Amino acid sequence: MRSSTLIASAAVAILAFFSIQTALAQMPDVAAGRKRAEVCMACHGENGRAVVPGVPHLAGQNRDYLAQALRDYRLAQERHNPTMTEMAKPLSDADIDNIAGFFHGLRAEK
Ligand code: HEC
Repeated sequence: MRSSTLIASAAVAILAFFSIQTALAQMPDVAAGRKRAEVCMACHGENGRAVVPGVPHLAGQNRDYLAQALRDYRLAQERHNPTMTEMAKPLSDADIDNIAGFFHGLRAEK
């Protein structure tokens, strides 16, 4: 094998390694999300199906949509709701990703 081919193969392997690392770092911790979401279940339900009239269901919802909604409530500019802003304010970015992963993973139907 020529040394330039070797160097190219090594570069591909290194790139692959780092992209896997990045993908893993972005995986939500669903168990931590469930724990952090306990306070949300009074309204959004234990299974992500809302138990209070006027409260949206979260089960099975798109993960990025859920995370964006929580970031928007936390910022209280694009999206403002007194209850949800209060709920979202103390959440860290990791909390938001984990909670979004948790509700996303629940079955949408009853
Ligand atoms: C006291 C009741 C209550 C609690 C507790 C609560 N929510 Fe909500 N949530 C609401 C209501 C009401 C809305 C709809 C607000 C609106 O009109 O924007 C909402 C909206 C949302 C949305 C947007 C859904 C969509 O389809 O756009 C998300 C995501 C969400 N809540 C997540 C959470 C999380 C995560 C928690 C816990 C940290 C939580 N909520 C706690 C009442 C609650």
